[in-house]
Amino acid sequence: MMNLSDIARALVAPGKGILAADESEKTADEKRLAAFGIATGPEMHRKFRDMLLATPGIEAYLSGVILYKETLSQSDTKDGIPSKEIDALPFPELLAARGILPGIKVDEGLEPLSESPEESITKGLLGLPERLNEYHGESKTCFTKWRAAITIEGDRLPTARALVENAKRLATYACEVQKAGMVPMLEPEVLLDGAHSRLRSRAVIESAMRVLFDTLNEQCADLSGIIIKTSMALSGDKSGRTDTPEEVAEDTVGALMDTVPAEVAGIVFLSGGQTPDQATANLAAITKLARERNAPWPLTFSYGRALQEEAIMVWKGEDENVPAARKVFLERLEKVAAAIR
Ligand code: 13P
Repeated sequence: MMNLSDIARALVAPGKGILAADESEKTADEKRLAAFGIATGPEMHRKFRDMLLATPGIEAYLSGVILYKETLSQSDTKDGIPSKEIDALPFPELLAARGILPGIKVDEGLEPLSESPEESITKGLLGLPERLNEYHGESKTCFTKWRAAITIEGDRLPTARALVENAKRLATYACEVQKAGMVPMLEPEVLLDGAHSRLRSRAVIESAMRVLFDTLNEQCADLSGIIIKTSMALSGDKSGRTDTPEEVAEDTVGALMDTVPAEVAGIVFLSGGQTPDQATANLAAITKLARERNAPWPLTFSYGRALQEEAIMVWKGEDENVPAARKVFLERLEKVAAAIR
């Protein structure tokens, strides 16, 4: 049985990263299927996950996959084996059989923060211990994710209140997950939406991390058994500016080195609305600079959109396109993994 730091280290093993395939039913329907003209519903969610997770060879690039609860009880398509000699495998088992750690998103989405309704707080602490025991016991998940979303608007947002309230929930979540024998991945996502500068994004990442680690230190979390999932420092999507990979690296590595303790097991990046090529080039520059600066923690990717987007466009929801979509998915994985090598 792996202990917390073994799991955390395996997740950030050299040359590998994590696929975020943990969209809720609503996000999967609206943003991954309907947005590409693909039919929606539970069976299409299953086919969508099968297209990605049953791709032969992904274990060369993936240490883990973050799943959503619906996917835990769904199984792969055993295409090409009409005799059904081999039963379809539940997705967590399919991943584990290939040495990929199954993880689970355990937050229950966002709601307005009552004191500042333009900002959000993440739901999901109610009944969390029971759900954790169920996921860990029945589906053998090894790690979990909790996402907080931090909005930037000029110097007005985020408010201190939003940072503190989200940090408290992230820290409570982390302690519960560690008690349940799994590794928490804490994601205070600083959103790309807005006209802010890259420096403002850096400053907000720094504030969010400072508040988070102050809160974690007051609680019970063992930092060697947590993973931090972060945004890169980027100019907002309405700023009219595209940052160079070197600029992104300077402010991202700078922000993290100033705020994230060395004991943390690893840091992973979300793609956050960057194109697949941007997310790949920025990660390569971040990895290079982090090595030059002797950053104390391993760094890797935990991308959703930047890994999935091209494959979804080729797949179009059609069974006959699955081999071509898997080829494109594998090619992107190869490029992203090359960026951290
Ligand atoms: P993106 O890479 O699409 O931002 O998704 C990562 C994630 O897990 C967001 O919570």
